[in-house]
Amino acid sequence: MPKGHRLASLLVATVAALPWVGKSADQRSGDGIPAFANIAHRGASGSAPEATRPAFEQAVAAGADYLEMDIQMSRDGHLVAIHDTDLDRTTDGSGRVGEHTLAELKALDAGSWFNRAHPGQADPAYAGVQLLTLDEILEAFGTDRRYYIETKSPELYPGVEEKLIETLEAHDLIQHRNVVLQSFSAESLKTLKALNANVPLIQLLWYGLDANGDLVEASGATPPLASAGAADFRAIAGYAAGIGPNVEDGGQRVVDASFVRRAHRAGLLVHVYTVDDTTTMNELIDAGVDGIFTNFPARLDRVLDRRAD
Ligand code: G3P
Ligand code: CA
Repeated sequence: MPKGHRLASLLVATVAALPWVGKSADQRSGDGIPAFANIAHRGASGSAPEATRPAFEQAVAAGADYLEMDIQMSRDGHLVAIHDTDLDRTTDGSGRVGEHTLAELKALDAGSWFNRAHPGQADPAYAGVQLLTLDEILEAFGTDRRYYIETKSPELYPGVEEKLIETLEAHDLIQHRNVVLQSFSAESLKTLKALNANVPLIQLLWYGLDANGDLVEASGATPPLASAGAADFRAIAGYAAGIGPNVEDGGQRVVDASFVRRAHRAGLLVHVYTVDDTTTMNELIDAGVDGIFTNFPARLDRVLDRRAD
């Protein structure tokens, strides 16, 4: 091979092998997704009550690219940001979210639990904070902000996809390319795609260790990790822009460089959840992931800054 060509090949091979280093405002063409995404999981939920105004405000202040949230529906059809299908853990209410009207949900205290559970992070201002509707969040934080919205337990909420797309369209968010939708339910994602094909979708995956020590995927989107191959990832790429896998289960790592390569070959982004320690953040960035969900977006921002230096 001529010397010039050898050098060019070496350069191409070296660049291809380099892990992504440093944060960038660059976006992939078309879909508005940053080259690397710092995704604030339920807002900055490590330091404020999850999915409440303080958590989202802190995520913005931390430099997060996306405000992540789980959406469920009240009995009277309003979209509300809350992770659990029951109210008991994160509010002073009880029972199913979907059995309550919006007025009942708004009357709940969604912050005091955090002060009790995390005395080191407690703030008297968190007591009494309210659950938020998706409309309230979009109005408060605006269309220049990016949102990463999950249809949580969509089987409990017939029509949730229609309502979600309707709300995003009303706020011009899809047009601004500032939203990603995610779900463990492939059916929910396909329904969203049929309603509006212009919003990037992420298939969430959960690989859990079974009694045989195999990492088995719970949503059914891929076979167990050891046998998940190119065809399985390509099938997901038929409707989604990327996958959102858990980082590990039972001490067994799911996402490594080989996993990321397989996904990338199928044209899928890899946004991995939920990572709060800087060592794992760095390992995953070295492995080539395209984004990380974290409860501590300021911590991830610092990791990215250090790598960019
Ligand atoms: O949406 C990514 C990650 O949040 C999925 O897990 O249970 O925290 O919604 P969960
Ligand atoms: Ca979620």
